[in-house]
Amino acid sequence: MARTERIARKKKKNNSPDCNNLSSIFDCFREIPDLTIQSYLERIFRYTRAAPSVYVVAYVYIDRFCHNNPGFRINARNVHRLLITTIMVASKYVEDMNYRNSYFARVGGLTTNELNKLEVEFLFMMGFKLHVNILVFLKTFKMLAIDPAKKISFNRLISNGDLVIVYERHDNMKPITVCESSVLQNRFGVFKHSEWIGKPFGSKVFSNKGGFVYLLAPTPELWTLVLSHRTQILYIADISFVVMYLEVVPGCVVLESGTGSGSLTTSLARAVAPTGHVYTFDFHEQRAGSAREDFERTGLSSLISVGVRDIQGEGFPDEFAGLADAVFLDLPQPWLAIPSAAKMLKQDGTLCSFSPCIEQVQRSCETLQTSFTDVRTFEVLLRTYEIREERLDGITGEGSGPNGSLPCKRRQCSDGSNVISSSPASCVMARPSGEARGHTGYLTFARLKCLS
Ligand SMILES: C[S@@+](CC[C@H](N)C(=O)[O-])C[C@H]1O[C@@H](n2cnc3c(N)ncnc32)[C@H](O)[C@@H]1O
Repeated sequence: MARTERIARKKKKNNSPDCNNLSSIFDCFREIPDLTIQSYLERIFRYTRAAPSVYVVAYVYIDRFCHNNPGFRINARNVHRLLITTIMVASKYVEDMNYRNSYFARVGGLTTNELNKLEVEFLFMMGFKLHVNILVFLKTFKMLAIDPAKKISFNRLISNGDLVIVYERHDNMKPITVCESSVLQNRFGVFKHSEWIGKPFGSKVFSNKGGFVYLLAPTPELWTLVLSHRTQILYIADISFVVMYLEVVPGCVVLESGTGSGSLTTSLARAVAPTGHVYTFDFHEQRAGSAREDFERTGLSSLISVGVRDIQGEGFPDEFAGLADAVFLDLPQPWLAIPSAAKMLKQDGTLCSFSPCIEQVQRSCETLQTSFTDVRTFEVLLRTYEIREERLDGITGEGSGPNGSLPCKRRQCSDGSNVISSSPASCVMARPSGEARGHTGYLTFARLKCLS
């Protein structure tokens, strides 16, 4: 309290010349940042993972700030500094755990000293009135909506231009972009795309001959099964383990290399949506380009940025230093990229490296010792079962199956009693599939060592 009063007295003395030009307090004296307001907000959003309620409160603050200081004009020179200050103050007001001013300063492109001063100025100009009552909050909240492009939802109906997965059987699916004037022709007949438009994802649609297929939504799980393989890819069992063990949740910033066919990237993007982002790098320009096209097609491009870069040689770009929640490597010599990955991770961030050979794992683990802890390697082996209905010949009565309890067909009589069918009984059997995938690779996880 005494400290605040001291600052207030000092400010009163110092501030009088500024009263005629309030804007100058937040003015940037260096070059005006060339980032658009949207990109700047996206950057803050991405790296601070502040909850949406923080932005609602920040919006109320800016409104209040302008109202309290009618001489203040928001312009290109001051808008960035005003935004980072307001969002930081709102985050301190709303959230129980906050980043330090030094972190916000780095995200906002200021020095810690500059941001400390702006915070004090801001609080005085707000008259320390930071409370936002629930009615004002709800009214503002309704006004602001999350960008629908970043919401992944297939609740809407199929439209012209949508990607659908045409499902015949679990082992026969293909991705098709709906085009009003096109048809799909297969062994079941001819299907007109125009008849698909307006139907919900998941619909059963019929051909001219009465055959049918299902039109499924292009979820990451299905996309992994139908995408065009430009490289070896990660499959569902490894992907699920990676997403879970790396703790990838909405709002996370994830760095990945190499992109390959984008199989893992697709699931990472769905996991970080709608407020996080995946930055994926591949040194193969054409592959990176094809991946970009795929992400457009699957509607995930606003959540993924694809870069062309030799990550083993150059490491990840410095601009991500200390900002990644997780890093994933699927590279031939991952140990070369590990020192850079360590620099990119936030404290307590996690890394995963996928390698097909155990020699690569051992070499990576050696390098991980320097900056990581909790190093663990897993091999995920998936066993698939085939489910079939099979005839059990020779069964004629209740309890007469091989173990005395197999289900037999019953027929209901008009008096309501059940009789055992005289036809051979059938039974649903589950058997290990002959075509089960064996070894795919080893997943090595590690957590960045804490500095303190
Ligand atoms: C096996 S693929 C990755 C597959 C990917 N995980 C998926 O699920 O689709 C490996 C990729 O790493 C890329 N790569 C190899 N060396 C690289 C390097 N030094 N820097 C960046 N990318 C590299 C290759 O071009 C290739 O596309």
